[in-house]
Amino acid sequence: MALRKVLLEGDDTLRKKSREVKDFDLRTQELIDDMFDTMREEDGLGLAAPQVGVLKRIFVMEAVEENEATAFINPVLIDEKGEQIGAEGCLSLPGLYGVVSRPEEVRVRAQDISGEEFERTYSGLEARCVCHEIDHLYGILYRDKATGGLHKLDEEEEESPTGDLSREEETSIKAADASV
Ligand code: NI
Repeated sequence: MALRKVLLEGDDTLRKKSREVKDFDLRTQELIDDMFDTMREEDGLGLAAPQVGVLKRIFVMEAVEENEATAFINPVLIDEKGEQIGAEGCLSLPGLYGVVSRPEEVRVRAQDISGEEFERTYSGLEARCVCHEIDHLYGILYRDKATGGLHKLDEEEEESPTGDLSREEETSIKAADASV
C-alpha cells in the first residue's frame, strides 16, 4: 500500500488543467492503485489525480451500493439530466462544506487501465462525485460553484476524517441541508 500526499487548496497544482493520458502502462496502474489507497485512508468517496500532484486526467470513485469501485481515465461527461442541490466536501479543503447544484444523473465515458473505453450512468451522490472529480481535472474546486460560500463543519466533525464527500461528513451535511 502506498499513500500519496493530498494537496490542499492554495497549492497551484489544484488550479491547473490535467493532460490526457496516453500511456496505459505500469506507472499509470501504480498511480491508480495509490489513489485508491489514499482515498480509502482519507475516507473519501472520490479522488482526482491532481489532488495527489499528478496532472493527468484520472479519477477514482469508491464502490457505492451495487456499483463497484472504478478508475476513470480520460473521463468526459457525455450526458446530464435534472438537477440536485446539496452539500459537498473535498479532501483538499478539509473541515469545510458548501452547497452546490449538480445534475441528478450523468453519463460518463472513460477508459480503463487497458485503454478500453466504457460508459456508465450514475445518479444521486455518485453523479455529484463524478462531476466534482471531473471539475478537479480542469482546475475547478467546488468553492467556485458553491452558493452562499463555504461553511465550517462542527468542531467535533473536524476531528474525524473528512474529505471528498466522505461518509463521515454526510451526517453533518444532512444537518446542514436541513438548516438551509
Ligand atoms: Ni475534491
